[in-house]
Amino acid sequence: MKHILSDFDLSGRELQEVLDLSAEIKACPGEYGDAMRNKTLVMLFELASLRTRISFEAGMNQLGGHAIFYSVEGGGFTRSETMEDGVKNINKYADFIMARVLKQEAMERIGGAATIPAINGMTEVYHPCQTMADLLTVREHKGKLRGVRIAYVGDGGCNTANSTMIGCSSAGMDVTVVCPDDQKYSPAGWVLKRVKEHTGKAVKVSHDPAKGVAGADVVYTDVWVSAGMEAENEARMRAFKPYQVNAELVAKAKGDCIVMHCLPAHRGYEITSEVMDSPQSVVFDQAGNRMHAQKGLLVWLMETVD
Ligand code: CP
Repeated sequence: MKHILSDFDLSGRELQEVLDLSAEIKACPGEYGDAMRNKTLVMLFELASLRTRISFEAGMNQLGGHAIFYSVEGGGFTRSETMEDGVKNINKYADFIMARVLKQEAMERIGGAATIPAINGMTEVYHPCQTMADLLTVREHKGKLRGVRIAYVGDGGCNTANSTMIGCSSAGMDVTVVCPDDQKYSPAGWVLKRVKEHTGKAVKVSHDPAKGVAGADVVYTDVWVSAGMEAENEARMRAFKPYQVNAELVAKAKGDCIVMHCLPAHRGYEITSEVMDSPQSVVFDQAGNRMHAQKGLLVWLMETVD
């Protein structure tokens, strides 16, 4: 039995297995129409979601299983039941838990109480399901992952940046984080250290947007103000303005680079509409692959349990 509480829970080889299975299920969905028959996924949400909720629920349906949404807004279950006690109930009814909770600490508590696989659907530290979908998308568009160069532009300290550093390095990609010269917006030292230990690869950090994206096969960005950071809105807008992914910046990357965004996007801020709607943009393929990567992960976890 295995939990995916963070991207560090998968080795490079395991990640490759998940991606291969995801691609196989995507190519031959009919062969997996019963893979999750009589299986139930409980989805705990403390924060709103479009992609994570719908892609997990649709994916589970396509695999012949069932998904149940349950709100844990406020950090717990109904009538103040603790996260641990709630999860001990779910263990008796379901086969998987997916949780989107504000704090990684809550995710770890869910994992500690779960006797069925628990999957991180995003916390303030990690977004592993997003990165699996991103890797599937890069592989589809570039034909490989090893040696492909990705420039993550924007907030180098956010959850999507962390998962990009870990997952893309695990897959053999070369990662550069392009962010303001401020520790608050740069990758944390512990992340850089753990990525090196886990993958053997060193993430590069650049504070120069043009130099940072030079030679990139993939230019990736995400929102400048994540949930819970609304009070920092003005300071963040100022700090990240030079890091907008616009046509001028994309022109500094490789001519055939693709542009990615985890969505939702704030057009005119971290990415311009001109870039987001350009032929180089694969953002909606990427969103679609949330479902395919998660189907692969669920089937892989079930096979691991068996
Ligand atoms: N990218 C992502 O996780 O989207 P949602 O917040 O809509 O789930």
